[in-house]
Amino acid sequence: MPTILAIESSCDETSASVCVDGRILSNHIANQLVHEKYGGVVPELASRAHMQNIVPVVDTALKTAFPELATALARLQTLDAIAFTQAPGLIGSLLVGAQFAKSLSLSLNKPLIAVHHMQAHVLANLIPEERPEFPFLCLTVSGGHTQIVLARSPLDLEVIGETIDDAAGEAFDKSAKLLGLPYPGGPLIDKYAKEGNAAAFTFAEPQVPGLDFSFSGLKTSILYFLQKQEPGFIEANLADLCASIQHTIIQILLKKLKKAVQQTGVKQVCIAGGVSANSGLRNALGETGKKQGWKTFIPAFQYCTDNAAMIAITAHYKYQVGDFVPLSVSPTARAEW
Ligand code: KG4
Ligand code: ZN
Repeated sequence: MPTILAIESSCDETSASVCVDGRILSNHIANQLVHEKYGGVVPELASRAHMQNIVPVVDTALKTAFPELATALARLQTLDAIAFTQAPGLIGSLLVGAQFAKSLSLSLNKPLIAVHHMQAHVLANLIPEERPEFPFLCLTVSGGHTQIVLARSPLDLEVIGETIDDAAGEAFDKSAKLLGLPYPGGPLIDKYAKEGNAAAFTFAEPQVPGLDFSFSGLKTSILYFLQKQEPGFIEANLADLCASIQHTIIQILLKKLKKAVQQTGVKQVCIAGGVSANSGLRNALGETGKKQGWKTFIPAFQYCTDNAAMIAITAHYKYQVGDFVPLSVSPTARAEW
């Protein structure tokens, strides 16, 4: 029954979670609102905010997990291991979580577990009681990545398709920026799309071979389209524009997912990552699954965008096989799996 404290700090969310034997007891997330006015995450501000947030976030996660324990020391002493996001991410942000996890590991004399952020997004699907069976496919769509992953077991994951340029989250955020919406624009496109007509406008879909994706052409296609319009066009057509852009992104994603199912014969299909919070994508996956005879799985909202519960569940499997790292380990901005 290992009790694990996990820390996530790869981008602009500071998060801590406690899991006992693979069951999540707490998942506390502090969002950084400081970036909104800059139109994107400012790395230096992100790492400073992580430094301010990390102690209260870890403290809250421990208190929520162990309300019966009166002192911080008593709560810390229940831990069997400390896990952290080692890669990929913003290096200044990763360093804060890594150093904090290492300090706890050293002072409590408990093993340290390094977790790959993208693997953790996939394994967020193992948090609920109703889980996919292995092997399963996972479409992981976040602000920095777009991948199709074949999961043969919790720690045997293979990327079988990925974006050759922008990630799906970037496609949402950059399109939103062209529409004059603030960062991060993905959730706003989702919101306005609900009122709009997805067939109002059509944008070119990329032709990329195999299971890989491309989103940079979509951004250009939207830009050229908007440049040809009269002033006031965006304001008058915001909901239809959002619905049409969202529809195009979802079609690009689902086409490749169908291809992946055909190629592998695997019909247990999950989504993960920040963009899997998108209501259009969640509905479209459900509908496609029904038509195609797939069993589909979508993590709860709080486990889609960056969170430490997904780091904790991954660490749980790593603990079982004794996959620990020495204190000399360093975080890295980029990492293959
Ligand atoms: O996984 P995540 O929280 O962070 C990264 O690891 O990148 O993903 C963040 C991305 C952002 O691009 C954000 O706009 C997008 O997920 N996102 C959404 C929605 N919620 C978050 N995109 C579309 N619709 C949403 N509801
Ligand atoms: Zn992420």
